[in-house]
Amino acid sequence: MKANAATLDSLVAQSQPLTTNKHLIRWVEKMAELCKPDAIHWVDGSHTEYEMLCQRLIEAGTFVKLNEEKWPGCFYARSVPSDVARVEDRTFICSYARDGAGPTNNWEDPYVMRRRLKQLFRGAMQGRIMYVLPFSMGPVGSPMARIGVQLTDSPYVVANMRTMARIGKAVFEEIDKDVQRVVPCMHSVGMPLKPGEKDVPWPCNDTKYIVHFPESREIWSYGSGYGGNALLSKKCFALRIASNIARDEGWMAEHMLILGVESPEGEKTYVAAAFPSACGKTNFAMLIPPKAMKGWKVWTVGDDIAWIKPDANGHLRAINPEAGFFGVAPGTSVKTNPSAMATLSRNTIFTNVALTPDGGVWWEGMTDEPPAECVDWRGEHWTPEIGKETGRTAAHPNGRFTAPASQCPSIDPDWESPEGVPISAFIFGGRRSSTLPLVYQTFNWSSGVYAGATMGSETTAAATGVVGKVRRDPMAMLPFCGYHMGDYFRHWIKMQRELDVTPRIFHVNWFRKDSNGKFLWPGFGENLRVLRWIVERVHGHGRGRETPIGWVPRYEDIDWTGLDFSREAFDELMQVDRAAWRKEVMAHEELFIDIHDHLPSEMIYERELLICRM
Ligand code: OXD
Ligand code: MN
Repeated sequence: MKANAATLDSLVAQSQPLTTNKHLIRWVEKMAELCKPDAIHWVDGSHTEYEMLCQRLIEAGTFVKLNEEKWPGCFYARSVPSDVARVEDRTFICSYARDGAGPTNNWEDPYVMRRRLKQLFRGAMQGRIMYVLPFSMGPVGSPMARIGVQLTDSPYVVANMRTMARIGKAVFEEIDKDVQRVVPCMHSVGMPLKPGEKDVPWPCNDTKYIVHFPESREIWSYGSGYGGNALLSKKCFALRIASNIARDEGWMAEHMLILGVESPEGEKTYVAAAFPSACGKTNFAMLIPPKAMKGWKVWTVGDDIAWIKPDANGHLRAINPEAGFFGVAPGTSVKTNPSAMATLSRNTIFTNVALTPDGGVWWEGMTDEPPAECVDWRGEHWTPEIGKETGRTAAHPNGRFTAPASQCPSIDPDWESPEGVPISAFIFGGRRSSTLPLVYQTFNWSSGVYAGATMGSETTAAATGVVGKVRRDPMAMLPFCGYHMGDYFRHWIKMQRELDVTPRIFHVNWFRKDSNGKFLWPGFGENLRVLRWIVERVHGHGRGRETPIGWVPRYEDIDWTGLDFSREAFDELMQVDRAAWRKEVMAHEELFIDIHDHLPSEMIYERELLICRM
């Protein structure tokens, strides 16, 4: 094999397999025959290798090194405007039967899709290096961890995955023990180079396919270099494929943050929470308690994905399968999320934000004052005046930071515990300007599953152009469940049978508004007051009152130390309006109709019970 890249010589040292696993070596050979890369690089995960990759990315124009004094170890990248987000309409679940994927997923016959993919991948890596990237989701060697190997022609992806997952030699050693099946993940940006053809800073293809084969546990991604389309460990593996594995093996792969609440007495309670996009999941995971609530602490275990499994004592335990945060930058500031700002202050890759003249980065909401000038995410000159005139933002709304979780000041001491942390409560939530109170505790497991199954969020202008329409997003898993949503609800219902201690299930809504359209609840750190009530309920000493939808705190059940919040405002925030709930319950039917032939009967009974209580 002949390489045309200048820095390749140093990398060819890594052309020998770093595994003894014959199946893996054979698969790599077969895929190389198909994709025709110029060279193969077995990723060892070392720091030297990372530096080499970054150098290569700088030479290609993909990376800009940021000012080392202000942003040590940080790099800046810009995608092309056609490759800025996950592409749900190009995402497929190719189960044997269409019914396996269900009506909420795109499906294609696996035989047809395989033929199409073979054609697309034929020669797709010409002129490029194929990286063999082993990764462990969860701490290497943890009984809850799973291994994948991604073959990719994108060094940008390798660099990001080094932060987002555990990669390299230690994972190859794990593979060589031959104790678990490895998930093969194929990825190409879909832009082969002819001999002598110059590369572009962000190679990709307008044709995109993000494909999952749930039965054979395979992922094939073509045409995109961005986020969840390309970092296959995240949404593709840890949610879509893992949800299939979890269903078959009796555990749960959820789109949930994990946090620990520590009381002044030192008692720690872990909860896992699911919110759809744009509801402040990362902020909640890194909550800073109000100063007045002395002695309370919140510890971060994860901000996006939780793998949850019953232990030998019938308690649920959770790990964060990831090692980094791939967070939305716009809106993140020292005011909204100081822990995230500290986390991303070094060793971070920024994508699609603005580049400032002093070699730093900026995004909307980072500071009150925008920089006088910068280069925007499109690579164009930007000033606040230009922004005003054209309506263009300096950062793309989905601009991201890729930062190591270990750098988070609130990272939980047990965040890498191989057995995971014990989960005492689940929290579901969404962005709802009316109807849903600040918090309620569901009556039991199946009414909790119902609350999760019917949760929704109001669309924001940025997402769809339509403001205020409620989009149902069960357990925030609609784009991420790798099988039929009705069967997913059944799996949730069934999980309780494995448990001796059932976590309590709550629903929260930080976004309720008053009649003038103003938010009723201050949110952010003040959410600890709600968490405190949740924790007290979990431990059996929190008080509350019963309503038709569940248990809610009375005014006197909330710790108001240091916050001036009136009983009237609280009553408005907590109101369970029967007329509004009538409409709400009718709207639950919308999604249920689509999946009725797989809907567990518990969901139908829970809806009936809710109607009766109304
Ligand atoms: C994410 C998402 O990027 O949920 O985490 O879309
Ligand atoms: Mn997410």
